[in-house]
Amino acid sequence: MNMHVIADAVFYIHTDIQTTEFFEGIWPIPEGVSLNTYLVKGDKIALIDLVRDWNDAPKQLEEALASLGIGLGDVDYLILNHLEPDHTGWLREFRDRNPRAEIVSTVKGINLVSSFFNIHTGLRAVKDGETLDLGKGKTLAFFETPNIHWPETMVTWEAASGTLFSCDAFGSFGALGTKGFDEDFTEEEHRFFEGESLRYYANIVSSFSTFVERGIKKISGLPITCVAPSHGMVWRKEPQKIMDRYLRYAAYAKGPAEKEIAVIWGSMYGNTKRGLDAVIHGIEAEGVPYSIHRVPDEHISYILQDAYKSSGLVLAMPTYEYAMFPPMAWVLDIFRRKHITGKTVLRIGSWGWVGGAKKDYEQAIEGLKWNSLESQEWAGAASAADLTALEVRGRDLARIIKDA
Ligand code: FEO
Repeated sequence: MNMHVIADAVFYIHTDIQTTEFFEGIWPIPEGVSLNTYLVKGDKIALIDLVRDWNDAPKQLEEALASLGIGLGDVDYLILNHLEPDHTGWLREFRDRNPRAEIVSTVKGINLVSSFFNIHTGLRAVKDGETLDLGKGKTLAFFETPNIHWPETMVTWEAASGTLFSCDAFGSFGALGTKGFDEDFTEEEHRFFEGESLRYYANIVSSFSTFVERGIKKISGLPITCVAPSHGMVWRKEPQKIMDRYLRYAAYAKGPAEKEIAVIWGSMYGNTKRGLDAVIHGIEAEGVPYSIHRVPDEHISYILQDAYKSSGLVLAMPTYEYAMFPPMAWVLDIFRRKHITGKTVLRIGSWGWVGGAKKDYEQAIEGLKWNSLESQEWAGAASAADLTALEVRGRDLARIIKDA
């Protein structure tokens, strides 16, 4: 547990979770993730967001509070911006050890406190814009920001320090170590966290990009000098940077995104791969940057990261039992769920005994709002003419991406 001072009587406590367990049971976090909790101290003490009983996060939180001379029983208000268990998993024990603290959340959040944790007393449902005076010049204001990340979510604003406690919004994967603020990290570390914030966004938030835009617009009138999310670093030197980054990410869903191509491929015996190599020659000839991901070898978390930020996609898969190669069908299902929309897409692939991938693919991408270039398929091994045509297709896609 690391404890930092944001401003007078405003504290930031983070626990780095280092685990082989997946985040949300799906997303790998080999570089860890931080769980951030905040404390604002007036005459009354408010704790903002909690932790899950994960690694030894509760113990570390208690130790950090103790270093401030505060015990769990001293907390007057527990502010829950969001009820996902990474921030509330320890709530039942907190309540057992502090029966008097008032738990504050949105109406939907309070309903979840009751249904998830069987807690029915000491609850305060706050309305959009409502305030809570802690004394000594510290007042919290609450603003509903639904679906960043789930419907009950709100953000908490502390005007005296200009701090926005934004919960999942503006968050990132990646453990912080002993550092905590944006000004503490080197340029190289910032590059690492930029990648991890994109992966976090593509994995966790991308389905809700419209709500991200709406939420950022809603808070844009606040004189924010510090962005304090529930995962990742606190932005005190350049708070606008992370808000602009999230706006950019939200815009990727509408396309065009970055002038890059994400190549996602699967091949049973190499015939699709040989055709793909020709496409890649074409892309390289046009000088457009591309990433490449093989399925099922690579985790979908990283495929999403690159696919989400790229304006172009190449999807290469053979026919398998009259349909798409199954790992690619799964990728497309995740793309649909995560709103990987607004892309320009080239699909290619081989078939052996009989086709079927094309029809299956066309059904799978309905609703994705893609600019689909004409698919190219071939029987068995690609001929010289096929390979020439595929290279041209790669060039054509790359030119479209360059000109977008
Ligand atoms: Fe960090 Fe949606 O919870």
